[in-house]
Amino acid sequence: MTRLLNKQEEFPYPLLLLADETKEAINRYIYDAELYVYERAGEIIAVYALYPINSESIEIKNIAVKESEQGKGIGSLLLDDATQRAKEKQYQTLLIGTANSGIKQLYLYQKNGFEIYDIKKNFFIDNYPEPIYENGILLNHMIMLRKDLITN
Ligand code: ACO
Repeated sequence: MTRLLNKQEEFPYPLLLLADETKEAINRYIYDAELYVYERAGEIIAVYALYPINSESIEIKNIAVKESEQGKGIGSLLLDDATQRAKEKQYQTLLIGTANSGIKQLYLYQKNGFEIYDIKKNFFIDNYPEPIYENGILLNHMIMLRKDLITN
């Protein structure tokens, strides 16, 4: 249901920027990630980036659905797709991180089998030039979640 973006194709930055604040931040992982895109009528409407951490773990560094298509289940489909691909690649753990302010994301990831295991304190303060607010909350910490691919 998704396909790997070819090396010759442009990165879908407008979508990627829905999930990350700056192009600079995206460029820190995008060149070493595999990008999977979801299309409808030839248009890319959703994307996720799989980034290997080590031989056991791979992380979804970015996941985004076009605004007009959100809330229709595509995000859950992408999380299933990423789970399947990570299993096929023989990884044991799939990781994903979200800001402390990401209410919907925390709900969605836990509903899809991810469990909180760590907090990267002050991640957004240390890695982004300007203060960022979401849902009226200052982004400071990164909440890390993981899914065990052996049992899930
Ligand atoms: N609070 C709580 N739950 C909410 C809210 C809210 N404000 N808004 C929607 N939801 C629920 C929906 O009801 C739905 O749950 P349900 O299936 O039980 O009804 C769920 O959240 C959304 O599920 P989907 O429709 O499968 O997800 P969607 O297609 O909208 O994709 C995503 C989710 C990727 C987060 C999308 O909304 C998006 O692109 N957002 C902007 C970019 C972003 O924040 N990306 C994640 C950043 S973290 C990272 O990239 C690693």
